[in-house]
Amino acid sequence: MTRKIVVAISGASGAPYAKRLVEVLAARRDQHGDLEIGVCLSSTAPEVWALECGGDVRAHLASLGLQSWGMRDYKAPFASGSAGWHAMVIVPCSMGTIARIAHGISDTLLTRAADVMIKEKRPLVVVPREMPLSIIHLENLTALARAGVTVLPAMPSFYGRTHSLADAVDTVVGRLLDQLAIEHDLLHRWGGKERAQ
Ligand SMILES: Cc1cc2nc3c(=O)[nH]c(=O)nc-3n(C[C@H](O)[C@H](O)[C@H](O)COP(=O)(O)O)c2cc1C
Repeated sequence: MTRKIVVAISGASGAPYAKRLVEVLAARRDQHGDLEIGVCLSSTAPEVWALECGGDVRAHLASLGLQSWGMRDYKAPFASGSAGWHAMVIVPCSMGTIARIAHGISDTLLTRAADVMIKEKRPLVVVPREMPLSIIHLENLTALARAGVTVLPAMPSFYGRTHSLADAVDTVVGRLLDQLAIEHDLLHRWGGKERAQ
C-alpha cells in the first residue's frame, strides 16, 4: 500500500530538521516505492530555510522529485479529507502556526491540511520550536494534544553519543520517523547496539 504523507514546513527555526526529513522520506520512496509525499510551505519557510540551510527550498525539493505547494494552493489533494492522506507532520512548527491550528483558523493550505487531519482523526505530528514557552504557547500546545495531535518538540537528545550537529538533528528526525512508523537507522536506541560512527 502507498502511504500518503504531508510534510509541512513553517517559518520557525529548525529548517535542517525539515531538510533531513524530506531527504530520508524521498530516499525511502525511491527505494521502496511505497510513499507519496506532499510538501507544503508557509510563506516564511523559504526565508528561514535560506538562512539556516542555504539555497532555495523549492529547488531542493524539486531535486528530490518533490512537489511543493504554497499557502493558497487549495487544489492540493491534502486540502480535503476525501483524498485520504494518511499522516501529516509540521516541522519545524512556529508558535503562530500552533496557535492558528489550535483555534481552527484554517486560513492557509497548511492550517487547512492540519485541520483536516484532526477532523479525520488521522496522525498529525507537530515539531514546535520556541524558547522560553509562554502560557499562551503551552495552552495552545495542550489544546492540540487534547485533540489527539502528537507534540514532538525539537529537543535533540545527547545520550546516544551525539558527536555532530547532524547527529543532533537525527535524534529529532528519528523520533519523527518513529511516529510515522517508518523504519530507519538514524537513532542510537537506548538498550540497543552501538550505532556505527
Ligand atoms: C530566522 C527566523 C527564525 C524564526 N524562528 C522562530 C521560532 O523558532 N519559533 C517561532 O515560533 N517563530 C519563529 N520565527 C517567527 C515566524 O517565522 C513568524 O512568527 C511567522 O509569522 C510564522 O508564520 P508561519 O508559521 O506561517 O511560518 C522566526 C522567524 C525568522 C525570520
